[in-house]
Amino acid sequence: MIVGVPKEIKNNESRVGMTPAGVFELVKNNHTVYVQSGAGEGSGFFNQDYQRAGATILDTIGQVYAMSDMIVKVKEPIAQEYSLIQKGQIVFTYFHFASSEALTQAMIQSKSICIAYETVEDSDGSLPLLTPMSEVAGRMAIQQGAKYLEKPVKGKGVLLGGVPGVSPGRVLVLGAGTVGIQAAKMAAGLGAQVTILDVNMKKLRYVNDIMPSHVITEFSNEFNIRKHIKTHDLIIGGVLLKGAKAPNLITRDMLKDMHPGTVIVDVAVDQGGCVETTKPTTHENPTYIIDDVVHYCVANMPGAVPYTSTVALTNVTLPYVLKLANMGWRSACNLDKSLAKGLNIVEGEVVYKEIIEAFHWEPAVA
Ligand SMILES: NC(=O)c1ccc[n+]([C@@H]2O[C@H](COP(=O)([O-])OP(=O)(O)OC[C@H]3O[C@@H](n4cnc5c(N)ncnc54)[C@H](O)[C@@H]3O)[C@@H](O)[C@H]2O)c1
Repeated sequence: MIVGVPKEIKNNESRVGMTPAGVFELVKNNHTVYVQSGAGEGSGFFNQDYQRAGATILDTIGQVYAMSDMIVKVKEPIAQEYSLIQKGQIVFTYFHFASSEALTQAMIQSKSICIAYETVEDSDGSLPLLTPMSEVAGRMAIQQGAKYLEKPVKGKGVLLGGVPGVSPGRVLVLGAGTVGIQAAKMAAGLGAQVTILDVNMKKLRYVNDIMPSHVITEFSNEFNIRKHIKTHDLIIGGVLLKGAKAPNLITRDMLKDMHPGTVIVDVAVDQGGCVETTKPTTHENPTYIIDDVVHYCVANMPGAVPYTSTVALTNVTLPYVLKLANMGWRSACNLDKSLAKGLNIVEGEVVYKEIIEAFHWEPAVA
């Protein structure tokens, strides 16, 4: 198969769909890989790295799309890319169709095979191609939170690890899922006192088993949240209700109960946030202050660490890319039910029912 890796053209996106290690594996399996010149630069992978791994570098994005059977990228195609996508071409990337009817219509028109990273689903309901980005964001949440606790950026002036003779900082983590566990682990590693809340007892039992004793678990309810926000320096929002808006666990009136300079990092901002006063921010302008509480609500946190994010993402996408290239999409999806869940639009037909529901379209009559 001929596999194409274009450069991402969405604003501020520095990740790339394949590393030189991915190229090496595909070439070893007798496939041809075309990489657009400069595609990996933002993540620290240069043309010569791809060439050494066996790729051919093409000058333009148009050439990559025109010459490839399968396109492997990161973000959903943007308007400039719509017309480049070929009939019958496999496009393997994040799509998030339900949030854009224009993109959905364009991909229907293209008659391509759209396989979405975010809907590839394992038998236990987990989303293996989303997990690495939650891991990155969870770990980064503590790094960012620690920075914004500093006084010059309006934080409380607390060092998370404390020093001998001074208590460490306190971190409250809402949600013991992927984001929450990674955040708790980083905060504990810095020596902070950590409280982690969830409504799922299995998650709390797991955290209790694996974390050191300065990470304590409590059931998530309004009473406990109101109690803890008064004493914690950094609050991490890592709650998810699958397919729904995150619940507002911290309401506007609660901000006045927090110490001035308390920092909230609401990682769940991409699902509306679990704090009432959350609104999406960017890496250029990541924070704002309401009632003396610093809010950090960047919706694409992994974008700030493209090297780590690219490698973490491609580690999990590559086995599927190899399957698709070796077997073709029909056989690969017949054999691998997790991958089959990634099929969203096939040759002009929407095959993922949540997209039809999102736009209130009439289901096709069989
Ligand atoms: N901002 C970013 O850049 C970025 C990056 C990656 C992920 N995210 C987002 O972070 C959020 C969390 O992702 P995840 O992968 O950790 O999800 P997850 O499903 O692994 O974990 C979510 C957890 O929230 C818990 N939960 C549900 N209701 C709760 C409540 N009322 N109180 C406490 N806990 C509750 C669930 O039981 C679960 O353990 C998602 O919205 C995800 O999209 C954002």
